Amino acid sequence: MMIDETALKEVWNKEVIRGRAANGQLPFFEVWEEIGSTNDRAAVLAKGGAPDFCLVTADKQTAGKGRRGRVWESPAGSSLSMSLILRPRVPLDTLSQLTILGGIAVKRCLEKAGTAPRIKWPNDIRLMDRKVCGILAETALSGNCAAYTILGIGINIRRAAYAEDVAPLAISLEEAGAAVSREELMAKISGEMMDLTAKWEQAGDLSFIRDEYEASMEWKGEICRVISADGSFTEGKVLGINTDGTLRFLTNEGEKAVGAGEVSLRR
Ligand code: BTN
Repeated sequence: MMIDETALKEVWNKEVIRGRAANGQLPFFEVWEEIGSTNDRAAVLAKGGAPDFCLVTADKQTAGKGRRGRVWESPAGSSLSMSLILRPRVPLDTLSQLTILGGIAVKRCLEKAGTAPRIKWPNDIRLMDRKVCGILAETALSGNCAAYTILGIGINIRRAAYAEDVAPLAISLEEAGAAVSREELMAKISGEMMDLTAKWEQAGDLSFIRDEYEASMEWKGEICRVISADGSFTEGKVLGINTDGTLRFLTNEGEKAVGAGEVSLRR
């Protein structure tokens, strides 16, 4: 089923435009039936000057990108693929915190849809111990300023959204019993991101959502492994997050602030 542009426009006006007059540049959305990657298309729009909070969505991606160079499956009708253009006015070294905010935005919307999402640091969203949503943030720099960040969000809507080989690790909203339209969900996530980034620009860090994040944090207090990009791993207890979004991890050598890595439960 295609994404319904009329239905999206209706919720978009309510959740994102919110009656603001069109004297500045208002965020717009683009709907595609099929595209390589919504993140790549959003980057093209951003380079052309598209404003904050413009959205690109597609019913199907043929070259969806996951984190760490992985492929992200997003077949027609069963997945939600969205990319938001973000232009926050914050120091460069704080930009990685956007992925944490993205996780909070999705978590809030999935809670409103009647599910009990958990966030696996930094930003996988899980339901019933399986992954329902992944987030990929890509930043382009101009000089030593951020030109823009593309926040890409992929959500499994129906079982067909993922291949059989990842089936034990993945779940869809339909399987979790959540009945919510893609149009509504993506407009609401965009609206949440507007609220969150405004508060974040003021606060200067993630202190204002830290408690909320930790309350939904997968494996908080448990012994886990953090695997680095080179395959090496460290074991320790997940304590929470710092206000810069790094993971608070208690190892034999004391507490560490982990900036990147894949967390898994030690079994
Ligand atoms: C992950 O590996 O967990 C991140 C997956 C991110 C997928 C989304 S789908 C919309 C956007 N476009 C892409 O090519 N990737 C992101």
